Amino acid sequence: MLATSTTVERVSSPAAHRSPLTTYRSPTTAAVSCEGVTKEFGANGTKTLALRGVDLRVESGELTLLVGPSGCGKTTLISIVAGLLNPTLGSVAVLGSELAELSGRRLVEFRAKNIGFVFQQYNLLPALSAAENTAVPLIINGWARAKAIAKARDMLATVGLEKRSNSYPAQLSGGEQQRVAIARALIHEPRLLVCDEPTSALDAQSGQTVMELIKQVAVQPGRAVIIVTHDSRVFDFGDRIVEMSDGRITAGGKP
Ligand SMILES: Nc1ncnc2c1ncn2[C@@H]1O[C@H](COP(=O)(O)OP(=O)(O)O)[C@@H](O)[C@H]1O
Ligand SMILES: [Mg+2]
Repeated sequence: MLATSTTVERVSSPAAHRSPLTTYRSPTTAAVSCEGVTKEFGANGTKTLALRGVDLRVESGELTLLVGPSGCGKTTLISIVAGLLNPTLGSVAVLGSELAELSGRRLVEFRAKNIGFVFQQYNLLPALSAAENTAVPLIINGWARAKAIAKARDMLATVGLEKRSNSYPAQLSGGEQQRVAIARALIHEPRLLVCDEPTSALDAQSGQTVMELIKQVAVQPGRAVIIVTHDSRVFDFGDRIVEMSDGRITAGGKP
């Protein structure tokens, strides 16, 4: 039987850069689906089991908060979800694509197009200005440099950094660097935004501005957000809370 027009629309555009072997899931696909994800770090003598069989489903259109004590595996889990780290065991699908089936350059392209990531330590490139750092995802996606930089300046203005576009990371405070990192993660309007403590260095006003921007850009139909946080100010923006403890999800893993 022929697929309905809705189905064709949903699968045709993201499918363009996938291999024929990529698993297609139904139109009700979760933004993120983890099954039995385990992660072990280190060699024999010093093994750490950071994740012990995580099942997690994150829906599109939602802002999911991930909470739990330090060392419980939050950063490891979101790094695996964002394709920055491979699981030892288990499977991860993002926006209907199995990450294990996307190798090398195709994974890099998939991430650049679809995922925004705010690192706990910001991870700005020291040799690039704030505007150049912010423009990186657009340039990777093939934008002309001048156009990308212009959009990056607009994005920086939105997070209150219009006067900092030409500054280098070392010239910025922690809170300013954090806002550049957030601008960079949002600039290509990713379908999945993953943030590791994105408001940790921000005052009340900046924290509010950033959360409103995240809500406006990234919490939309067909898009999803996961935020690791301890910040009670962020809780008001969450649709769902997932709790972790000692490498496992202890509440909220499935909606
Ligand atoms: N690259 C690594 N090598 C070895 N152990 C690691 C590494 N990254 C994380 N771990 C360990 O995995 C566990 C979970 O870490 P992490 O995911 O950073 O926790 P959280 O973000 O919840 O604080 C911790 O015991 C941590 O020490
Ligand atoms: Mg962490």
